[in-house]
Amino acid sequence: MKITAAEFLSSAERPEHYPQEGLPEAAFAGRSNVGKSSLINALVQRKKLARTSSTPGRTRAINFFRVNDQYMFADLPGFGYAKVSKAERGRWREMVETYLRTRAELRTVVLIMDIRRTPAAEEIDLIGFLTAQGLTPLLVATKADKLGKNQRLRPLKQTAEALGIPAANIVTFSAASGEGRDALWNRLKALLDPRG
Ligand code: GTP
Ligand code: MG
Repeated sequence: MKITAAEFLSSAERPEHYPQEGLPEAAFAGRSNVGKSSLINALVQRKKLARTSSTPGRTRAINFFRVNDQYMFADLPGFGYAKVSKAERGRWREMVETYLRTRAELRTVVLIMDIRRTPAAEEIDLIGFLTAQGLTPLLVATKADKLGKNQRLRPLKQTAEALGIPAANIVTFSAASGEGRDALWNRLKALLDPRG
């Protein structure tokens, strides 16, 4: 995928502040610090478009990016960060669920997981929620550079089993090496481009 333009549009917490460009949109969801913003930067080949941080829980609103004047990317705040108050967690859930329920342009949600972890209740619940909304989750196992080729097979198989899907449905990715970028773009384009 050749990127000719990628720009940050806005940060929004409520639907009235979402951009109204009408472009097909992909959202990026996952545990806090899993590498959502880094994955977006790798996809659009801009090192600092989406802000990344080694401190978890930094992204508090939904950040919207326009790519090639063709697609919209929404970087969702991460879930599962332990040091977040119950009230804050409720606010997160409300913000993300409202977005997932109301965003008409949304075509797919990229659910990003750490290749070294098996999915927990949060991931499984989110997949259930998405499926109930008629949305197709696109599953990505990131930070693949942390494991050797042979070390990956077992966690990928375990994740696939936990989710009840074939392991081949999970895109192996690394923002550090760029591995999986083309494979993810191909799947994204198939879900974002209007049919026919
Ligand atoms: P929040 O917005 O806080 O939820 O985090 P995030 O999911 O956007 O994660 P972010 O992209 O900020 O990355 C978190 C940390 O993981 C940073 O220190 C990144 O450099 C690192 N990281 C992200 N992707 C990869 C990867 O593919 N490989 C390696 N080795 N490190 C990564
Ligand atoms: Mg982030």
